[in-house]
Amino acid sequence: MPESDAARAARLRQLINHHDHRYYVLDDPEISDAAYDDLLNELKGLEAAHPVLMTSDSPTQRVGGKAAHEFRPVQHPRPMLSLDNAFTVDDFMNFDRRVATRLGVEVVSYTAETKLDGLAVSLLYDAGVLVRAATRGDGETGEEVTDNVRTIRAVPLLLHVKQPPALLEVRGEIYLDEIGFAALNRRQLERGEKTFANPRNAAAGSLRQLDSKITASRPLTMVCYAIGACDGWDPPDSHFECLQWLRAAGLRVSPETSRVQGAAAALAYYEAMATRRATLGYAIDGVVYKVDSRDAQAMLGQAAKAPRWAIAFKFPPEERATRVLDIDVQVGRTGALTPVARLAPVVVGGVTVTNATLHNADELARKDVRIGDLVIVRRAGDVIPEIVRVVLDQRPSTATRYGMPDAVPDQARAQRIQSIIHFASRRALDIEGLGDKWVEQFVTLDLIKDAADLYHLTLESLVALERLGEKSATNLLAAIAASKQTTLPRLLYGIGIKEVGEATAHVLAEQFGSLERIMQASCAELEQVPDVGPIVANHIHAYFALAEHREFLARLRIAGVHWPNTEPRKADSPLAGWTVVLTGTLESLTRDDATARLQAVGAKVSSSVSKKTSVVVVGIDAGSKAVKARELKVPILDEAGLVALLAKPLAATSILDRHALRQAAAE
Ligand code: IVH
Repeated sequence: MPESDAARAARLRQLINHHDHRYYVLDDPEISDAAYDDLLNELKGLEAAHPVLMTSDSPTQRVGGKAAHEFRPVQHPRPMLSLDNAFTVDDFMNFDRRVATRLGVEVVSYTAETKLDGLAVSLLYDAGVLVRAATRGDGETGEEVTDNVRTIRAVPLLLHVKQPPALLEVRGEIYLDEIGFAALNRRQLERGEKTFANPRNAAAGSLRQLDSKITASRPLTMVCYAIGACDGWDPPDSHFECLQWLRAAGLRVSPETSRVQGAAAALAYYEAMATRRATLGYAIDGVVYKVDSRDAQAMLGQAAKAPRWAIAFKFPPEERATRVLDIDVQVGRTGALTPVARLAPVVVGGVTVTNATLHNADELARKDVRIGDLVIVRRAGDVIPEIVRVVLDQRPSTATRYGMPDAVPDQARAQRIQSIIHFASRRALDIEGLGDKWVEQFVTLDLIKDAADLYHLTLESLVALERLGEKSATNLLAAIAASKQTTLPRLLYGIGIKEVGEATAHVLAEQFGSLERIMQASCAELEQVPDVGPIVANHIHAYFALAEHREFLARLRIAGVHWPNTEPRKADSPLAGWTVVLTGTLESLTRDDATARLQAVGAKVSSSVSKKTSVVVVGIDAGSKAVKARELKVPILDEAGLVALLAKPLAATSILDRHALRQAAAE
């Protein structure tokens, strides 16, 4: 291989990195897209001809391929904290005064930043090379998304520094701007796939793709707002300088970042950003102030979840006026009819809103929304758009009331469509690529009647459809087949029992271990499950009582849908391992009764309080044992707490949690 090929490949890599930086980070390209493509194609050609020239940080290597595994959990080197919020000027002033007092200064110097509405991500650079990217997760543990983050051109694979730190963690927000979001949704529509409700969901969904080629096709970008862990290097003294350093290292930092001195200047920044918010081209939901000096930050320290040196000042939810073009009803998966206002498209909080739910007939009557009305629409963060009120003094004389129908034509079919869409959704059976439009078509054409029929679709029947090519049909069938291997919580959530959301599905699966046991459970047994009350228990019981539903589940099984069973929590001794101390006089039951009932559910009842005591129940005139419990920080329950515990021993932990909170608040 001629030496010049190696040199040329290195030069091309350098050039492409440079132009990526100009384009994706600085927003200031120097060459045309065509000229850029020529460079990339030349490099691809060279690497293909001489595989030894390939390097892992080559710009051709941004797109990996399908990851074989789910996302690996990653322990963050330092917890990724959250931010305290201020909603009013008073909230912010209190924060500023608190900080000033603690630091013993009059005027606090802050870095003011925009608060982007995306997804927090941590990047790890080992000697300047991007080696890992992870989502925030719960702050302690996130998910590894390195392959996917590598596809984001605003994220340099190599830091632009001569002597990079041995280890550097950079934190920031991954998001989609308004143009990228609109383009993505347009493409999803064209392909008959689900559109995203807002840029934040779209960014999250794009980052959690097992196939990084899909992530690569999504217009994600990132701004960096903090340095996390680092090793072998001392970051600059102020946060503002840290951001400048990151920018010089090739990372993208918000151009809206500004240093402000004191509260008045900070508030002026807030006002300025609130005015410019609608024209920034990406969604922000507030501004963030960070005490600028890193020494001062260290002095202030942190509370449980958020640093004491930073605060997010949130914008009030954005409101816009628009016209109600029509009102009609939507059929939900349970068959319920929901009135929906069809609106003249309006951008609210970075999202184009065309529909707003009116929830039910009562809500429709209360708000008195009529067709033709001018209405105020609000959207706060992730919240679905809502109609705040009608602008009554602008009600046209032609405005008409909508009469809620009791039923709509094709209601049963609409309901079936909704329940199949739900069954296939990401948190349920997760059939990728089965968009709403396809489900509608399959049902309308009588290819399927319910979700179990999905597993009998054939290539012949699918390719006969217009707009579904052989490749897409094959992919779809593969996704349907892949969904056969599922989990009990996904199945329970996916079959669409009224009011059984993901969380309930999880606890049901955990407590009972198998579908059979849940199907056989009585309402009383179901009510033993944490957070399942009589109404939900009834919905679950009624669902399985219907032969049609049992048959549906049997058909799923026959089609090959399967899920592992787990060991159920032993219902007869949910308090095994617990030591309970009773003290004081109980009113509603005798001490002996209480003891017997606690023992019946596995608890040991003891007479002395020690560190090992799980809980102390205090009745009237409780004496030294209650005091000792407080000293030893043993959880304390009053009689009502004990009654709750005996009624729902399986929910013991959450009962204690709730009680412990009350105690903390009381002190
Ligand atoms: S700093 C120690 N700066 O807001 C402080 N966060 O509510 C950690 N966010 O999880 C975060 N823009 O996802 C910081 N300029 C900014 C931000 C920002 C958006 C997000 C971030 C964080 C959440 C906390």
